[in-house]
Amino acid sequence: MRLKNKVAIITGAAAGIGKSIAEKFAGEGATVVLADLPHTAGNEVAKGIEDKGGKALFIPTDITKKDEVTNLVKKTIDNFKTIDILHNNAGVAMPITSLEEVDDDTYQRIMDVNVKGVFWGIQAVIPYMKEAGEGVILCTGSTSAIRPRSGLNIYCASKGAVVTLAKSMALELASFGIRVNTINPVATDTGMIDSEQREKFIKTIPLGQLAQPIDMANAALFLASDDAKMITGIEIEVDGGRCI
Ligand SMILES: NC(=O)c1ccc[n+]([C@@H]2O[C@H](COP(=O)([O-])OP(=O)(O)OC[C@H]3O[C@@H](n4cnc5c(N)ncnc54)[C@H](O)[C@@H]3O)[C@@H](O)[C@H]2O)c1
Repeated sequence: MRLKNKVAIITGAAAGIGKSIAEKFAGEGATVVLADLPHTAGNEVAKGIEDKGGKALFIPTDITKKDEVTNLVKKTIDNFKTIDILHNNAGVAMPITSLEEVDDDTYQRIMDVNVKGVFWGIQAVIPYMKEAGEGVILCTGSTSAIRPRSGLNIYCASKGAVVTLAKSMALELASFGIRVNTINPVATDTGMIDSEQREKFIKTIPLGQLAQPIDMANAALFLASDDAKMITGIEIEVDGGRCI
């Protein structure tokens, strides 16, 4: 059990990569707090974890709203007294769109969820982690932060911001014993990828397949555990060679 007695918040945990991370962390002994939008399958994912003997709580949260993120953190503390791990995983994608056609709503939604939501999350947990003198913050970036795809302009920019924010926070928080790292997934087999994109993306991945959510969960487990106690400020590409 590599996360025994740890308490972890995972955003975007009702589906895809976040769900896999929550299940993996719970299987390794962590109490997991699942944060996702209210209409999502958060409760079912939490129940599935509990049915397997894990501890899980779904707290409906829109990460773009600072008061909801504050509530998420407060409820976690009220219920479980500590926050050892925050995984800022929730994110939204965009259809392939030329730069001239990106409208204000698309720009705002991508930046709000993918950047502001991550920022609020970090801001809300650090007082507790500083007090504890330790903590782990993970972010889900994307290979598109460092090897962009054409037509995903503002999405790529948002993930670039996540990678740099995480590095900057790693520096700012190192003296408090808080580590901050990012996982950069390549195209991963979740609801975010439509059937048209699948084949196109597979051709660009040297290992010849999409990643699976569990590939991200395995990397997250490593970075969250004490096995990575000397690792901060890095990003791991889980990408089948896409960024070579
Ligand atoms: N699937 C991929 O190919 C891929 C590739 C690179 C990076 N990523 C990143 O991985 C992360 C997870 O993506 P996924 O593939 O599991 O997608 P997904 O759509 O399956 O899951 C994303 C989850 O985030 C939640 N979410 C969206 N907006 C939210 C908000 N405002 N507040 C709270 N929760 C919100 C959704 O409800 C959903 O449950 C994202 O940050 C995404 O950008 C995905």
